[in-house]
Amino acid sequence: MKVGIYQNYPQFGKTEENVGHALEELGKVDADLMVLPELFNTGYQFVSEEEVFNLAEEIPAGMTCRAMTGLARKKGLFLVFGLAEKDGDRLYNSAAVIGPDGLIGKYRKIHLFDEERSFFSPGDTGFRVFDIGKARIGVMICFDWWFPEASRALAIMGADIICHPANLVLPGCQQAMTTRSLENGVFSATANRIGVESRGGKAALTFTGKSQVLNCKGEFLTGLERDRIGISTVEIDVTQSRDKTIARQNNRFLDRRPEFYGSLTKK
Ligand code: ACM
Repeated sequence: MKVGIYQNYPQFGKTEENVGHALEELGKVDADLMVLPELFNTGYQFVSEEEVFNLAEEIPAGMTCRAMTGLARKKGLFLVFGLAEKDGDRLYNSAAVIGPDGLIGKYRKIHLFDEERSFFSPGDTGFRVFDIGKARIGVMICFDWWFPEASRALAIMGADIICHPANLVLPGCQQAMTTRSLENGVFSATANRIGVESRGGKAALTFTGKSQVLNCKGEFLTGLERDRIGISTVEIDVTQSRDKTIARQNNRFLDRRPEFYGSLTKK
């Protein structure tokens, strides 16, 4: 199957333009699965909860999900993208998984980063793996990379590919995902954005680009530069992720000793 990443530079608050750009660029792509950045349609640096509320959308009733469903249907494509989700009076930093028949599922970011804590409720969906036919995909969002438990949980749940919408500002993620892919024997697709946001007198945030797809040995398959928007795709054999062998007598999952990992699930 062919997997790809879309790296953008959204104009803050211009949801229709940002979605329009994605539709135009992804409309030219031949792929089975495309991963887009976190909050790809709005931009990142909100200044108030009210501002988030005005830009957030329902999943799947909102404009962004409807537009992306149209694209998925036309292209026979599966899409994973981040957006601010409105559910009643609650706001979540979410990712939607959409296919040719519409919404497959959503994930609400579990580990909120820095000021996101002022604007979004912590995710309550748990980690989720979705079967899209050609692969089982697990979803995590940006700062979840910092917590190896996130990728591990997704891999144990059977993910072949970790789809990772991101708006990265800290260094280290692209390298860390090498280990996340290697230790779990999964492909990973991190879709990041580029550019700078400095709103409401707040310190500027610089996003690190370098979106990438890694194989299940943690090897780099394809990626984008630090400072350019674009799309990149790569053909993968997803069945490679189902062999969890490390050495003749070792297996990533069969060798686990969860009886000694209790401290990981204590508060
Ligand atoms: C982040 O989680 N967007 C840094």
